[in-house]
Amino acid sequence: MKNSPIKKCLFPAAGYGTRFLPTTKSMPKEMLPVVNKPLIQYGVEEALEAGISGMAVVTGRGKRAIEDHFDVNYELEHQIAGSDKEIYLSEIRLLMQRAVFSYTRQIEMKGLGHAILTGETLIGDEPFAVVLADDLCYHPDAGVLSQMVELYDYYRCSIVAVEEVPRNETHKYGVIAGDEIAPGIIRVNNMVEKPKPEEAPSNLAIIGRYILTPDIFNILRTTPAGRGGELQITDALLTQALQGRVLAYKFKGRRFDCGSVPGFMEAAEFFFKNVYKE
Ligand code: UTP
Repeated sequence: MKNSPIKKCLFPAAGYGTRFLPTTKSMPKEMLPVVNKPLIQYGVEEALEAGISGMAVVTGRGKRAIEDHFDVNYELEHQIAGSDKEIYLSEIRLLMQRAVFSYTRQIEMKGLGHAILTGETLIGDEPFAVVLADDLCYHPDAGVLSQMVELYDYYRCSIVAVEEVPRNETHKYGVIAGDEIAPGIIRVNNMVEKPKPEEAPSNLAIIGRYILTPDIFNILRTTPAGRGGELQITDALLTQALQGRVLAYKFKGRRFDCGSVPGFMEAAEFFFKNVYKE
């Protein structure tokens, strides 16, 4: 994994987060704390663990707290220097030494596909990872992204992380179908964005972890707006899938939908009991 071609991770973080209103009126959803850390920091840690050091963040209006979080707060540093409170900053300091952050803004929120296309300027012509920070993933040894990077090193094509969801929830996700070529690895031949249960090709839902090959940008440029009038990454991925160039991966570990209040509360309880160290 050390010499993996995946050097950058894109964080689309421009969405409105309406399910968390009123909190998200003036605060980015990605800064919601699960115990003592904002969601996006968990995502950055997962990327670092996968050997990725370039963090490319697509932000939007009202999202400046994300940039401030990964910057030095001189006043605070000065205030607590030499005190016993300094240890509370050691984890984020270490992270900032290991990661390089770059930012761009999505001016109009025209969907996840559009947010990813906006990130092209930060990614360039290389394969890259995508993390939707509101999907919080946990595995005690190997994070979902490192599992996927390992898979990419072997298969060299786009990969989406999937999990089985109840049939009556398919309308919340991109849903895939295909042939299982190895245990937990499916060559995708169909994908539908937010299908009704009766229209869903399976109950395998795409969660917020992707590895994408850079030709996805040209495909996105020519993909028409899809469901909800938004540019959907699922529609662009279908073009690659029909050429046999997309795998779905049943990841190992747990995933919490922190974009919804129940999922967020579940994550907070789980992380407090199992992950948080005082
Ligand atoms: P969501 O579907 O969760 O939308 O986007 P949202 O706006 O964040 O939340 P709700 O549904 O209004 O509560 C999935 C991911 O895509 C990003 C979001 O920030 C989130 O990480 N996104 C979505 C963008 O960056 N830009 C967009 O135009 C849309």
